[in-house]
Amino acid sequence: MTMTRPLFNTEVLKAEISQIRQFDDKVSTFGDLIRLTLGQPDFKTPDHIKEAAKRAIDGDFSFYTPTAGYLPLRQAAADFVREKYRLNYDPKTEVQATVGATEALAATLLTLLNPGDKVIIPSPFFSLYESLVRYAKAEPIFIDTSATGFKVDPAILKKTIAAHGDCLKAVIFNYPNNPTGTTWNEAEVKEIADILRTYPDVIAISDEIYSEIVYDQPFVSLGEHLRDQTVVINGLSKSHAMTGWRLGLIFAPKYLSEQIVKTHQSLVTSASSITQYAAVEALTAGKNDALSMKEQYQKRRDVVIKALRALDFEIAEPTGAFYIFARIPEQFGQNSFDFCYELARETKVALIPGAAFGAAGEGYVRLSYAASLSDITEAMNRIHTYITQHSQ
Ligand SMILES: Cc1ncc(COP(=O)(O)O)c(C=O)c1O
Repeated sequence: MTMTRPLFNTEVLKAEISQIRQFDDKVSTFGDLIRLTLGQPDFKTPDHIKEAAKRAIDGDFSFYTPTAGYLPLRQAAADFVREKYRLNYDPKTEVQATVGATEALAATLLTLLNPGDKVIIPSPFFSLYESLVRYAKAEPIFIDTSATGFKVDPAILKKTIAAHGDCLKAVIFNYPNNPTGTTWNEAEVKEIADILRTYPDVIAISDEIYSEIVYDQPFVSLGEHLRDQTVVINGLSKSHAMTGWRLGLIFAPKYLSEQIVKTHQSLVTSASSITQYAAVEALTAGKNDALSMKEQYQKRRDVVIKALRALDFEIAEPTGAFYIFARIPEQFGQNSFDFCYELARETKVALIPGAAFGAAGEGYVRLSYAASLSDITEAMNRIHTYITQHSQ
């Protein structure tokens, strides 16, 4: 019998298992590796947050919460972003708790997109964006940021928006950025906001999950400068070392929130009650928990920058998150997968090939310094030996 229709969503069928996972599987056979590959904090969740979760369990806080989340959590989240980022959202109608930033992004994109819509994704990018856009039968339009310091160039953005006209539904921003560690300053945010304001039908989705990990400058949210058109995505995974707890947050004007909440309800009903209870503690008593982690990240970042620059890796200025995106020195002439594979085989140091983050990442490697200083120092020594040997 011939199949008259595909059994699966064709976009799901075409999607590959994450290239990061594939690479990881491949190099895992090399034995004991120093992995500078992880996209999650190496710190433990602060004790006072764990205690709050225990109280929630013992107090039988075990029922579904309201769809948008436990109100004291939405209030705590609204207060947190008001105090830290000058954002103003009504906790009753404009703040939602989700299952990680991942579900926040999924709910937002599924709410906005119709088949054939286009979404601008600056590249290199966190691969989830492309998958979600494609599953919704929409089309990603990539803007290569590698020639503009891994920031979205206003003139290029303007041109790209104009070129796609009425089909363009959204633009995804991610600062501080995974994989490059770059972030934007107030003047840059304002310039982008001014452009988008002239296209009121285009929604900005601003993934600000690394907002608490910004070095030497204040974090600026797109929600401050383009409130009416922006969905701000955030969460506790990175700020409070809580990746496994799965708590994300959406801040968006009421007309967007009231639609997104329907999709969120269909996907998950609500986020975990225990996690939400603990999240109140994180966003109140623990509102500055990220500071001590950030200090340590910054020390590690400086060690890596110094070591790699001495070896002629060009590095995008890493002002946020815990990643370094470094250009592979020219003499290697290899693509990023081959470079990382050989490096892992010879030195037992694993980095992620830049091409895993889109074509614009080819020729680069992503190094995560969410690892101990001793592992980082040892890895830098091994990379030093490898590069010097291969440069002769
Ligand atoms: C840019 C970016 N957005 C979203 C996420 C997903 O975060 P969560 O663990 O809250 O789902 C990650 C995780 O690595 C990320 O790097």
